[in-house]
Amino acid sequence: MKVAIDGPAGAGKSTIARAAAAELGFVYIDTGAMYRAVALHCVRKTVNTKTDTEAVIGLLPEIKIIIRHVDGIQRIFLNGEDVSDAIRTPEISVAASDVAVIPEVRQKLVQLQRELSETADVIMDGRDIGTYVLPDAEVKVFLTADVNARAMRRYKELCEKGTETTLPDVLRDMQYRDANDAGRSFAPLRQAEDAVLVDTTTLSPEASIASVIDIIRGAKDVL
Ligand code: DC
Repeated sequence: MKVAIDGPAGAGKSTIARAAAAELGFVYIDTGAMYRAVALHCVRKTVNTKTDTEAVIGLLPEIKIIIRHVDGIQRIFLNGEDVSDAIRTPEISVAASDVAVIPEVRQKLVQLQRELSETADVIMDGRDIGTYVLPDAEVKVFLTADVNARAMRRYKELCEKGTETTLPDVLRDMQYRDANDAGRSFAPLRQAEDAVLVDTTTLSPEASIASVIDIIRGAKDVL
């Protein structure tokens, strides 16, 4: 069974997908991590991810991404190095959104995502999973929340990790990414016609998780 969870940054996708996968015995695949790994490689090579599309495309052949699951937790390897933590910075969030606009980057990563979806029952989260990567997914959820609520959640997460930032900076990055992710021409962020909309603005994490698990269980029962 394939479950697609899409939506903008900070809507709660990864928290909900991870918890639902653990509860239902699915493998959780975080596709944003793959765009982040490509972005990390480009940033390390001092490529301007916003303006130098050709340089990003030129680096693609030397980027090898491997996904492994350790005790149910996804780890991502970039050319053999575990970069699961290094990709979680504000700089890489923005750069990931930039490289994700480039069709050649998407084609490379979508191939890997489709291969992974064949190996187990999966819950995959991203921006284009229900519309482009797995259009035949049995369950599609579009998670959203008010941008101010999303920025506040991400700000708290970053503070807990000890990352120096401010709420206005986080909000600005989020608005930039929303516009970039939804405005690109190739596989943009949008709700699939057959996706169930879940707005988490006023829901607790527990209530959001329960609502998505209910949707998946409901679909399993009719299969
Ligand atoms: O989910 P995330 O914040 O880790 O994703 C980082 C960026 O990667 C996001 O701003 C857009 C891009 N992305 C994408 O274009 N398609 C996906 N399926 C997943 C992420």
